[in-house]
Amino acid sequence: MTTFDTVVHLVYLAAATCFVLGLHLMNSPGTALRGNRLSAAGMAAAVIATGAVLVHDHRMTAWAVAALTAGAAAGAVAGLVTARRVPMTAMPQLVSLFNAVGGGAAALIALGDAVQRSHEAATPGVQTTVTTVLDVLIGGVTLSGSLVASGKLAGLVPGRPVTVPGGRWATVLLALTAAGLAGFFVAGRTGALGLSGIAAAALVAGVLLTLPIGGADMPVVISLLNACTGTAVAMAGFVLESSPLIIAGALVGAAGAILTKLMADAMNRSIGAIIAGGYGTGDSGPAAAVGAGAPVRSITAEDAGLQLAYAHKVVIVPGYGLAAAQAQHETVALARALTERGVQVSYGIHPVAGRMPGHMNVLLAEADAPYEQLKDLDEINPEFPGTDVALVVGANDVTNPAARRPGNPVSGMPILDVDKARTVIVIKRSLGHGYAGIDNELYTRPGTAMLFADAKKGLADLLAGVRAYAA
Ligand code: TAP
Repeated sequence: MTTFDTVVHLVYLAAATCFVLGLHLMNSPGTALRGNRLSAAGMAAAVIATGAVLVHDHRMTAWAVAALTAGAAAGAVAGLVTARRVPMTAMPQLVSLFNAVGGGAAALIALGDAVQRSHEAATPGVQTTVTTVLDVLIGGVTLSGSLVASGKLAGLVPGRPVTVPGGRWATVLLALTAAGLAGFFVAGRTGALGLSGIAAAALVAGVLLTLPIGGADMPVVISLLNACTGTAVAMAGFVLESSPLIIAGALVGAAGAILTKLMADAMNRSIGAIIAGGYGTGDSGPAAAVGAGAPVRSITAEDAGLQLAYAHKVVIVPGYGLAAAQAQHETVALARALTERGVQVSYGIHPVAGRMPGHMNVLLAEADAPYEQLKDLDEINPEFPGTDVALVVGANDVTNPAARRPGNPVSGMPILDVDKARTVIVIKRSLGHGYAGIDNELYTRPGTAMLFADAKKGLADLLAGVRAYAA
């Protein structure tokens, strides 16, 4: 091994270390930014080292330099602009687009490699042919499936489950066709043309598999497709014999798979049931009219402000409505005003509150909520019996006591025990349902008072109320 090779391998090792450490730092909101930067630095080092290898091996033509520079520049600008401009609530569809790009790029690597080998009349080994087929298959399904998922969340494709007549049979037929072509490809009886057939089958299958899944189930599907992107990239790493690509892909694949399982468990749903489709018909708008037929008690912002101002302990429970209203700054301002009055304030964070993993943590971190006040389900639940006011902001399903009983869509889902607090104040616009589409029994309990308002406006009014008592 030459000195050059040793240096390149050491850079790849350092890059892999950055990926692992970066992923670990992303465990907590306080260190996540550093983790992201460390992983990006590792990736930049790996890309530069790969460029150096191509130059060293005299495989870098002037055309290749122009194409790589133009591609990297266009990708970097597009990535930077979209990531900076996207609102937090649209983050899942952006992640889905990134998955599509990752899966498509991985599949193109395998196709490009097959075309090059057929020009050179080279016979690849079984390890290369098998990983090439897997790369094209997984990458193709991920590309089209992620585009449909993103379109559903962006409202460009209907969010409800769309059933294609004969779709399941067509998917089986496509799987059989792809398996047949894969057999021919691995046996060396077909080349790039057969591989293109596999790619086409995978692209159509991705659409047919994703269309019947409801828009509100999309975050779990996107996480699953993220795991597929990682796996496709790892396969591309085997095709190119690139260790950083294998390691980065395997990490993304494993992290995506773990996240998918955690999300499905926290929603008490099986991944199989989600893929089978038919549940989760998209986000509901303001459904039922205020107080429609239900014995609920409503409260004014002034009275709620008084209750909060004279409490000893308040737990704020954020949910999807807080994200939809972009009310994170008002929430944190209210918490700060209460803390200044000597009230003990915490945030109770449910793992699937909102519409994407870590949704509430990201929003509250954006508004500079102190990390030590953010408590997860297991930590906060024992504190509710000693809480004076549980202030529920735009959260619904994650507080529904019906989850403790069998026989309804949220049965078995772990919930935040807000009903065990002395009093509960709920800010939302109406008695409209949440994602699960069922009534929330919390709203009709004697200790609960509803403040019917948009979260942003309701919180601003509450803050004014609290300040009035502080004056
Ligand atoms: P949801 O149960 O979906 O309820 C959100 C509530 O927010 C709605 O009932 C709505 O009531 C209210 N709302 C909407 N816009 C509002 C606004 N501008 N101001 C005030 N309130 C507003 O939310 P949740 O409690 O956070 O639960 C999350 C649900 O999503 C769970 O069922 C979970 O399984 C599911 N889910 C989560 C994820 C992840 S990873 N987080 C992924 C997939 C599915 P009004 O219309 O009456 O205002």
